[in-house]
Amino acid sequence: MAFMLTVNGVAREMDVDADTPLLWALRDTLNLTGTKFGCGVAACGACTVHLDGVAVRSCQATVEDATGSEVTTIEGLSGPEAEAVQGAWRDLNVVQCGYCQSGQIMQAVSLLKENPSPTDAEIQEEMNGNLCRCATYSRVGAAVRDAADRLA
Ligand code: FES
Ligand code: FES
Repeated sequence: MAFMLTVNGVAREMDVDADTPLLWALRDTLNLTGTKFGCGVAACGACTVHLDGVAVRSCQATVEDATGSEVTTIEGLSGPEAEAVQGAWRDLNVVQCGYCQSGQIMQAVSLLKENPSPTDAEIQEEMNGNLCRCATYSRVGAAVRDAADRLA
């Protein structure tokens, strides 16, 4: 079945089943491999993308779910929140192996779009579902705090 998705501001047509996970459409059909597969059951956050600016787990959203929304992946992330997060991530050397990090960044940008001045507790709660096998959690939390301060 043919679907038209808007991904990173570009209309992309794909011929896939309606229940194809958005994650596989992005990675396998559109070759946008910055979005990662971790668990496939909404338990790790590695696959996080934005639908209309809000973080969603792309392993759980289907292509049909995403039709009519603006899909943003790590490759297309832009705007003041994205720049603040990317700057903080660089300056605080957050990344270790990197596997979870596109999901972490997508989650952080979604948080700051919704709440530009989060408390530390709100940051922890928002980032809690993004797992990191390298345990970069303290640097992730500090970088989200730093990004919020840059936006203030
Ligand atoms: S792969 Fe989607 S939440 Fe883990
Ligand atoms: S940096 Fe390695 S899994 Fe998070």
